[in-house]
Amino acid sequence: MPSIPRGTQRSFQVLLLFLVLAVLLLVGFLRVDFRLLTPDKAQEPPVTNIMFLKTHKTASSTILNILYRFSESHNLSTALPEGSRVHLGYPWLFVTRYVEGLKQDGRLQHHFNIMCNHLRFNFGEVQKVMPKDTFYFSILRNPVFQLESSFIYYKNYAPAFQRAKSLNEFLADPWRYYNDSVDLKNVYAKNNMWFDFGFDNNAPADVDYVRKCLAKVEQRFHLVLIADYFDESMVLLRRRLRWQLDDIASFKLNVRSQSTISHLTPESQERVKHWCALDWHLYEHFNRTFWAQLHAELSPRQLTEELEQLRAKQRELTTLCLQDPESKNVTHIDDLNLRPYQSGKAKILGYNLRHGLDNTTLRICQRMAMPELQHMAHLYSLQFPNKTPKDISFLKE
Ligand SMILES: *[C@@H]1O[C@H](CO)[C@@H](O)[C@H](O)[C@H]1NC(C)=O
Ligand SMILES: *[C@@H]1O[C@H](CO)[C@@H](O)[C@H](O)[C@H]1NC(C)=O
Ligand SMILES: *[C@@H]1O[C@H](CO)[C@@H](O)[C@H](O)[C@H]1NC(C)=O
Ligand SMILES: *[C@@H]1O[C@H](CO)[C@@H](O)[C@H](O)[C@H]1NC(C)=O
Ligand SMILES: *[C@@H]1O[C@H](CO)[C@@H](O)[C@H](O)[C@H]1NC(C)=O
Repeated sequence: MPSIPRGTQRSFQVLLLFLVLAVLLLVGFLRVDFRLLTPDKAQEPPVTNIMFLKTHKTASSTILNILYRFSESHNLSTALPEGSRVHLGYPWLFVTRYVEGLKQDGRLQHHFNIMCNHLRFNFGEVQKVMPKDTFYFSILRNPVFQLESSFIYYKNYAPAFQRAKSLNEFLADPWRYYNDSVDLKNVYAKNNMWFDFGFDNNAPADVDYVRKCLAKVEQRFHLVLIADYFDESMVLLRRRLRWQLDDIASFKLNVRSQSTISHLTPESQERVKHWCALDWHLYEHFNRTFWAQLHAELSPRQLTEELEQLRAKQRELTTLCLQDPESKNVTHIDDLNLRPYQSGKAKILGYNLRHGLDNTTLRICQRMAMPELQHMAHLYSLQFPNKTPKDISFLKE
């Protein structure tokens, strides 16, 4: 082996030391960078192909508003109800002909970005409307509160609710009022969320059947949110969709006046779990998976931070947009276009905007406070300027 002169050996060692230091510095720097980038997944673009299964009485109108706003501000297309319809065929199982503008030149045109109006889930048909990489999500609510809300809202519509004086009375002897062979008007009275997912709301809550259906939902849906933890749900949704805070901030829409929220006795609350056993299984399962996913994605400190950011953003927008943060009786809302549709015995509230907003701010605030029927009519006219606009004549009192 030829011997290396001493001087060369020393400078080689110095060079090696420099190299090792440089690599260590670089690794350290990159690691910091990764930590900064990973939480926001800032390197990936936001998700824009989205199917939201809008369940009933589950804060889903607020999510609809979020999706409508995102669709308009990002120039996306939304699968809206055809013609004068206000739903995508609900309570019938969804089929593609309920969507406006799906056929062009007689051929099926795919690729709407967003689908979020009420429909009864039917994966095979939904797939024909939405792209392959679509993100599917939905929302559930504790069946006790869901049924309470449904009772007030569909009091005059569902035959099962019409003759019962109160939900307590109904739950004491539901079969006195409920007839499963009447027609679909009664779907609001028993396992309504189960029905929305496309399943039989009158089926017995048999263990194997329930397990099979839950597995199907798991397979189709990337995320199931929980309305009882709405802010936590929005934090998780925002991360999954890689959206900005502004996109996900919202005002509560389609909420009832406190005076029309009824009190359920503890016995009635227990009875809901039996009467709506399928919904109860659905809710318990996805409440568990929701929290598991939330904890897997965020440390408790991160969760607290992101909740605070969201609430701060909402306070900021409330101050910017609204005359009064409290929602108002419909008779106290000046702008007809911001008055929500009223149903059953529920007093649905809405908002008044501040006076003197500049045009850009006004646009943002109007979209945030706009009730869903007006919002749908607005998007419909934007997307289909040559079609007859949606008739929302309830506004013309
Ligand atoms: C949407 O379209 C408008 C008008 O064509 C354009 O000015 C705007 O930049 C677009 N926005 C996005 C997010 O692509
Ligand atoms: C339920 O409705 C069907 C069809 O209208 C009717 O024949 C039947 O008698 C009803 N059952 C009860 C318990 O009211
Ligand atoms: C839902 O999950 C939360 C968090 O684990 C738990 O505190 C709550 O009791 C659950 N609700 C029901 C109805 O199981
Ligand atoms: C709404 O109107 C009812 C009477 O119709 C009244 O008792 C209630 O205080 C009003 N609520 C709000 C928020 O204005
Ligand atoms: C704001 O909108 C109104 C009505 O659309 C319009 O007349 C006015 O010129 C706009 N103002 C500015 C500053 O763009």
